[in-house]
Amino acid sequence: MAKLKLLHCRLMLLLSFFFIHTLAKSTIEPCSVSDSCTAMVGYTLSTDLKVSEVATLFQVDPISLLSANAYDPSSSPPSRILPAGLFLKVPFVCSCVDGIRSVASVVYHARASDTLESIATSVYGSLVSADQIRDANGIADPELILLGQPLRIPLPCSCFNRSDNGLPAIYLSYVVRPADTLMEIATTYSTTLSDLMAVNALGGPVLKPGDILAIPLAACIPRFSMFASDAGLMVANGSYAITADHCVQCSCGPVNMNLFCAPASLGASCESMHCRRSNLTVGSATSRLTSAGCNVTSCTYGGFVNGSLVNISSATVPRQSVVPVSFAPAFSITCICTSTIPPTISSRRICTIGRTFIIVCNDGITSGGGSGGQSIRNQV
Ligand SMILES: *[C@@H]1O[C@H](CO)[C@@H](O)[C@H](O)[C@H]1NC(C)=O
Ligand SMILES: *[C@@H]1O[C@H](CO)[C@@H](O)[C@H](O)[C@H]1NC(C)=O
Ligand SMILES: *[C@@H]1O[C@H](CO)[C@@H](O)[C@H](O)[C@H]1NC(C)=O
Ligand SMILES: *[C@@H]1O[C@H](CO)[C@@H](O)[C@H](O)[C@H]1NC(C)=O
Ligand SMILES: *[C@@H]1O[C@H](CO)[C@@H](O)[C@H](O)[C@H]1NC(C)=O
Repeated sequence: MAKLKLLHCRLMLLLSFFFIHTLAKSTIEPCSVSDSCTAMVGYTLSTDLKVSEVATLFQVDPISLLSANAYDPSSSPPSRILPAGLFLKVPFVCSCVDGIRSVASVVYHARASDTLESIATSVYGSLVSADQIRDANGIADPELILLGQPLRIPLPCSCFNRSDNGLPAIYLSYVVRPADTLMEIATTYSTTLSDLMAVNALGGPVLKPGDILAIPLAACIPRFSMFASDAGLMVANGSYAITADHCVQCSCGPVNMNLFCAPASLGASCESMHCRRSNLTVGSATSRLTSAGCNVTSCTYGGFVNGSLVNISSATVPRQSVVPVSFAPAFSITCICTSTIPPTISSRRICTIGRTFIIVCNDGITSGGGSGGQSIRNQV
C-alpha cells in the first residue's frame, strides 16, 4: 500500500514535471517566486482612441506607452488620436499571480451593458477570456456584473528568465489574427519559425486565430551602476524607455543591441547632461582620427542613483568599432566608425541627436543607418 502510494506520488511528480515542462514555453508560464519582469502585450485598436484613453484602459503611463511604440513622447501629446486598426505594444510589469505569470495591475470598471464576454473580446481585444476574468475575480454568477464593479483583467505575459537563446529578451503577448502565419510573425519580429515554435511549445507551424503567442523581442540591457534605481531597465528592439524622472530617453536597436541613452525633451527639469571634464552631453560622441584608428570619446548615461543622474565619460574606441547608435523611431542618430589601418584621412565629427551622422574615418566604408532615418553621409 505504502509502496503503491509512493509510486503514485512519483507518477504525479513525473506527470507534473511533464506538464510544467511542456508548458514551460507556452504563453502560460508557471512561476513560483514573486519576481517580475518587463513584458508587452499587443493590442489592436478597434476604434479611434486618444493616447490617454488607451493608457487609462491599460493603466499605464502615456509616456511609457508612446515610448514603447517608438513615438517620441515630446512630440506626441496624450491627446493625440490613434486610428482604429493601429497595433500597439503596451508595456507592463509581468508578475507572478497564483503560480502563473500575468499582469496584476489592470483593473477595469464595468460599464452599462458590459458582459464578461464583451469586456474580454471588445474592450481587451481577446487578450483574455471571459472565464479568465471570472476566475481572477471569483465571480460566481457572470450574469451579475454591477455597474462600476472593479474587475481585475489578468492579461497574459511571460518572462522566461528575460532571455531567449541566452540573449536578453522581452516577451510580447500577441493575439493571432485570421490572416497571420507563423512565418510572417517570425519575420515581422526578427525571430525564427523554430524559435517561435520552441517558445510556444507548438507541435507544428499551424496557428488558430485567437491563439496567444509569446513572441521574444530582442532587448537591450544597460550597464548602469549597480546602485542605480533603473539598473534593471530592459528596452525592446525598436522601442524607447524614459528613465531618470523623465530626463533621459533610452532606445534599443535597430543596428545593434547596445542601449543608447540621450536627454529626453519632455520639459522635465533636469540636472546637467554634460559629462565631467567634457563638453559632451549624454548620448553624444566625438571622433578623431589617430594613428591607432578612430578615437571616439562618448558621454554615456550610467544610471539614476539616489535621485541623480550618473554619467560616464568614456573611452577611446579603437578602429573597426561601432559607436553609440540609433534613436528610435526615426532611428536618427547613428554614429558608426569604420576604419582601416593605416588611416589616411582625418576627420572629426560631433554626433547630435536628431541627425544621422555616419563617421567615416578612412575609406568611405559605412554601414548601418537604420530604418526610417536619413543618413547624412559625412565622407571625408
Ligand atoms: C536565467 O538567466 C541567467 C542569466 O541571465 C542564468 O544565469 C540562469 O541560469 C538562467 N536561469 C534559468 C532557469 O534558465
Ligand atoms: C531589431 O530590429 C530591426 C528592425 O526591425 C531588425 O532589422 C533587427 O534584426 C532586430 N535585431 C534583433 C537582434 O532582433
Ligand atoms: C569646450 O568648448 C570650448 C569652446 O567651445 C573649448 O574651448 C574647450 O576646449 C572645450 N573643452 C573640452 C574639454 O572639449
Ligand atoms: C583618444 O582621445 C582622448 C582625448 O580626446 C585621449 O585622452 C586618448 O589618449 C586618445 N586615445 C588614443 C588611443 O589615442
Ligand atoms: C544614497 O543616499 C543614502 C542616504 O542619502 C546614502 O546612505 C547612500 O550611500 C547613497 N548611495 C549611493 C550609491 O550614493
